[in-house]
Amino acid sequence: MTTTDGTTARRRVGSPPDAASLDAVERMGLDELRALQLERLQGTLRYAYDNVPHYRRAFDTGGVHPDDCRELADLAKFPTTSKADLRDNYPFGMFAVPQDRVRRVHASSGTTGRPTVVGYTDRDIDTWATVMARSIRAAGGRPGDKLHNAYGYGLFTGGLGAHYGAEKLGCTVIPISGGMTPRQVQLIQDFQPRVIMVTPSYMLAIIDEFEKQGIDPRSSSLRIGIFGAEPWTEQMRQEMEERLDIEAIDIYGLSEVMGPGVAQECVETKDGLHVWEDHFYPEVIEPFTGEVRPAGEGGELVLTSLTKEAMPVVRYRTRDLTRLLPGTARPGMRRMEKVTGRTDDMIILRGVNLFPTQIEDIVLRTQGLSPHFAMELSTRGRMDHLTVRIEARPDCSSERRDPAAREVQKGIKDGVGTSVEVLVVDPDTLPRSVGKLQRLTDDRDRA
Ligand code: DLL
Repeated sequence: MTTTDGTTARRRVGSPPDAASLDAVERMGLDELRALQLERLQGTLRYAYDNVPHYRRAFDTGGVHPDDCRELADLAKFPTTSKADLRDNYPFGMFAVPQDRVRRVHASSGTTGRPTVVGYTDRDIDTWATVMARSIRAAGGRPGDKLHNAYGYGLFTGGLGAHYGAEKLGCTVIPISGGMTPRQVQLIQDFQPRVIMVTPSYMLAIIDEFEKQGIDPRSSSLRIGIFGAEPWTEQMRQEMEERLDIEAIDIYGLSEVMGPGVAQECVETKDGLHVWEDHFYPEVIEPFTGEVRPAGEGGELVLTSLTKEAMPVVRYRTRDLTRLLPGTARPGMRRMEKVTGRTDDMIILRGVNLFPTQIEDIVLRTQGLSPHFAMELSTRGRMDHLTVRIEARPDCSSERRDPAAREVQKGIKDGVGTSVEVLVVDPDTLPRSVGKLQRLTDDRDRA
């Protein structure tokens, strides 16, 4: 977009969908929504207690019964559920229906040990498609749009979750999955999709590939990117919007609760993600004490499913850090702030807490540096040591590299309060991901 003085201005906000195309619940008032949630929550607690031995045991041990939930705040009396509970009941022990009603399973890979298995009935798959269709529409997608789906297909929920939602909305889906990056560019050029769904880190790799092929990414047909499955910052939003001339919109979800489509940012506000509260009830707790935090205060997100059949989840501890804010574009639904990181992604470096997103923010503010960086923890002497390797942008001069490294080092020291080693390396030398990016390697000596 060119302004009258000839400079290029970024389109900051897209247009909202017609009110008439919204789901009824997206227009619902707060009182009506809370009443619906209470009824569904009471049903879910009873259903989980009656059909999943784990929940019966956990509620009995905690001295609570589904009848104790008389208002929404009573949910806080119920025990939380963790990934370990799902692993202990591997593979199908958390299911509430007989196997012949489970139409599909997905699994999250897990870095160690057993994967976490989740299941869906026919109705669950339909609910999921409904919230995903709602999410794509909130991001600016419309029936008739061509949608390039580069989330991985398979046990990961990203590919099929996005696929069913896009079909339900009435889009034409291009189910390319992740990988074969030159081909991604070719098919975007040939098929002219308006929407892309992909992890933000893989989007960057595709943008780089456009440039490698001598094609200006801004000239592509893409206008909307729906990015999730890993944390990404406002700085990264700016980077992708500028380089690709798109609206970059955040989508959140996790397999244990459903998959993508638990919460979604709206294109007209881009101010955090509206939780689809007719299906998922959010709380934020203090991660150490487990106490529920008041609205607006930060902590760990805990989610309870309100309509799931195959695998209801009660107070699932996501490990994702955020806070809950009032709704804006959808006034009845609360927003969760962009996730800054996971409790288990937090690096404790000589007593100071550090998240990869804090480094991303500083790197992207530094002239000459690309968004590609990797972090390596090691032991030096008896101390933990963090090395951050950052790729220079292709047009960054060799004289600029040392000052850029020093600026990042100072930014981390001043902003986070810890010293790290920063190395600026050649473009295209760090590993790329085709899905979720693993930024950190931990080579510390274990005593
Ligand atoms: O990543 C589901 C998904 C697919 C979401 C595609 C969005 C798009 P899991 O593999 O179970 O499911 O991983 C879930 O990924 O607990 C967060 O830590 C992280 N995550 C997901 N979305 C976001 C996001 C999918 N928008 C885990 N921002 C979650 C930050 C996210 N982190």
